[in-house]
Amino acid sequence: MKFYFAPMEGITGYPFRNAFQQCFPGIDRFYTPFLSANDTFSFTTREKRDTDPALNKVSDLVPQIITNNAEMFVWAIEKMSELGYKEVNLNLGCPSGTVVAKGKGSGMLRYPDRLDAFLEETFELLDKNHISYDSSVNASTSSEKQVSVSVKTRLGIHDPSESDRLIAVYNRYPLSDVIVHSRVQKEFYKGEIHYDHFRKFIEGSKHHLVYNGDIVTKKDFEKVKALFPEIDTVMIGRGLLINPSLIRELNGGEPCTLEEIKAFHEALIESYIPEMGSDANLLYKVKEYWSWLSRSFTDSERYMKDIRKAKNLPEYKAAVRNLMANCKFEPNR
Ligand SMILES: Cc1cc2nc3c(=O)[nH]c(=O)nc-3n(C[C@H](O)[C@H](O)[C@H](O)COP(=O)(O)O)c2cc1C
Repeated sequence: MKFYFAPMEGITGYPFRNAFQQCFPGIDRFYTPFLSANDTFSFTTREKRDTDPALNKVSDLVPQIITNNAEMFVWAIEKMSELGYKEVNLNLGCPSGTVVAKGKGSGMLRYPDRLDAFLEETFELLDKNHISYDSSVNASTSSEKQVSVSVKTRLGIHDPSESDRLIAVYNRYPLSDVIVHSRVQKEFYKGEIHYDHFRKFIEGSKHHLVYNGDIVTKKDFEKVKALFPEIDTVMIGRGLLINPSLIRELNGGEPCTLEEIKAFHEALIESYIPEMGSDANLLYKVKEYWSWLSRSFTDSERYMKDIRKAKNLPEYKAAVRNLMANCKFEPNR
């Protein structure tokens, strides 16, 4: 089984990815949180840094783009190709109201005909610009740039049966991976996964499919493997934030120890320091991560209050030490 670390905006930027890779190797591929390709035809400083090969220490990284304009998407693909990336992922899953209102992310799923036209134009422009997206062609025999295109999608906006049409649209294009989060936009990240519709994806899709959604424990993973024995790749997000050694455990290895979490936390701070500029920004980031990690510590709520209240790095570190000394680390509770 191959394991992809899901993109998570606000959390899995390059400092997090580097620290994670250093402390918990075993991820086959990372994705950047979405970068916006818009009519400025430029990325923000943060986006440039997140994709700067000099700052990224993970071996396999795929930049993710959010846009609803083929010209802007192809511009972003070219930029990523110039940086050396071999695949670019299109975000068709973000459920956030502001994103959907602009017809981006999962908002692109509302009108499958428009999505079809967007993809058609994208591949036409790639041809026109001599960018090869067929990974089976050997780069050394061709002077063309080579970047494959993958998508990360939901089942639709309102109703999972909308996915029938989406499968037909995706089947028309040479996508390298179709990553499916088997929920609709309205469900955000909650409620039961529509396993039956992921099965329909397997039956109807001609693409290599990646399963994504709600793998937090070994039991969850075993369930997905039993339901979908055809699947050879899963993408995991929240499960890895809560239990960073999850993949090691899924591969039969030892559960995470408190010492490993302490080392990871130190590595995370070290990794954020050069990026964040001020203690305030750094604290904002690490506090956000604690809202996930704290779920692996028993009765952590009152210690979390001190972590959230900490005004500077020494206060924060003291609050973290206090939590670690008083709460039991029990991932997979
Ligand atoms: C805080 C947060 C930020 C996210 N940011 C992104 C993103 O930038 N791009 C994306 O495709 N998905 C994003 N997602 C969705 C995740 O990649 C993933 O699909 C989702 O969490 C379901 O997988 P999981 O159950 O393994 O966590 C985000 C999810 C969360 C909770």
